[in-house]
Amino acid sequence: MSARPLTLPAAPLEDWLRERYFQAHTDISSSGVHNYTLGELRDLDPSLLDIAELDRLMFRDGPSLGEERLRAAVAARVRPGPGHVVMTTHGSSEALFLAFNALVRPGDEVVVPGPAYHSLSALAAAAGAVLRTWPLRPENGFVPNPADLRRVLTERTRLVVVNFPHNPTGACVDPNGRAELLELVAASRATLLWDGAFTDLVYDHPPLADPSQELDRALSFGTLSKAYGLPGLRVGWCVVPRDLVPELVRIRDYLTLSLSPLVERLATVAVEHADILIAPRLAEARRHRELLLEWAAASEGTVECPAPRGGVTAFPRFTTHDDTTSLCERLLSEHGVLVAPGRVFGHPDRMRIGFSCPQGELERGLAAITKELGAGAADGRRESP
Ligand SMILES: Cc1ncc(COP(=O)(O)O)c(C=O)c1O
Repeated sequence: MSARPLTLPAAPLEDWLRERYFQAHTDISSSGVHNYTLGELRDLDPSLLDIAELDRLMFRDGPSLGEERLRAAVAARVRPGPGHVVMTTHGSSEALFLAFNALVRPGDEVVVPGPAYHSLSALAAAAGAVLRTWPLRPENGFVPNPADLRRVLTERTRLVVVNFPHNPTGACVDPNGRAELLELVAASRATLLWDGAFTDLVYDHPPLADPSQELDRALSFGTLSKAYGLPGLRVGWCVVPRDLVPELVRIRDYLTLSLSPLVERLATVAVEHADILIAPRLAEARRHRELLLEWAAASEGTVECPAPRGGVTAFPRFTTHDDTTSLCERLLSEHGVLVAPGRVFGHPDRMRIGFSCPQGELERGLAAITKELGAGAADGRRESP
């Protein structure tokens, strides 16, 4: 069989953010909590990160699966099932790339949520998958319904990809929904790919347990980019069945080989002190979620905002607009405010708003939207009947 070229489409979210991220001074676009500094990380563990200790750090190549202490710290939090191991990667993006390329063969059916973070569908398609969508329905506030998943599962389903809490909608299954989902996958021939980027950011129940605890055919993905406030560290991980490791390593040998020992040192401190980093940001996000929902409620029907059950983004609909792109452009040009237009997730009448920035920033951003809605950003406005 001849090798297929890797065909990846543009990632509309990244295209939108690429330049604007550095131009904005009020960022209410982000799917992660607001960021920590190196100093804040060093305060957590001076024994690992003090300057003399760092000076002794040798820039050796790292192990293919990641440095032992970091992997153990991740495992202590995630608690993988008995047949699974942790591999640390360059963001969960790398882990997703390895997994899709290790598991998908041309013609395999892969179920992905719709809407979805771009990697989850594009990487599957690039590996030759036939995509089937598990629709998260806007008319139901994007609440995931396992019956909709059952309808798209077939004999040929190779993977079921989920992302709970979900980017961009904030939708999530509860523990019962998680159990139902795992049962459906267990009864099929499929492997579950569980993108847990936002696992620690939930409001109504404790974080959902890693699926590998019950399901042998499960992989999960985590990251320091969202709940930990460390996106620029570029560290994530996957929890994978042990027998898949050689295949992941084979692909990694052509991609990144390993992580930097300096990055792994910083990541180890973060994961070993996870609760200290996550708890204050989660408490803040809970308060900000209320602010956002109050703001939407005060819009008198202009902004319809399903309450996020997890994560730090909401995906409201603007009843005034068929396409919010020009509104988003004006928010940046007139107010320095960054949001993400819903079209990058296939829902042009919506906007992704991140609510885990400092409170003043969130308030400034929302006030700018209110002002622009009042002023009537011209293009993309819904035509009057
Ligand atoms: C659902 C989801 N998965 C994975 C990623 C990749 O994140 P990272 O590579 O920073 O871990 C993102 C980033 O936004 C995401 O939203």
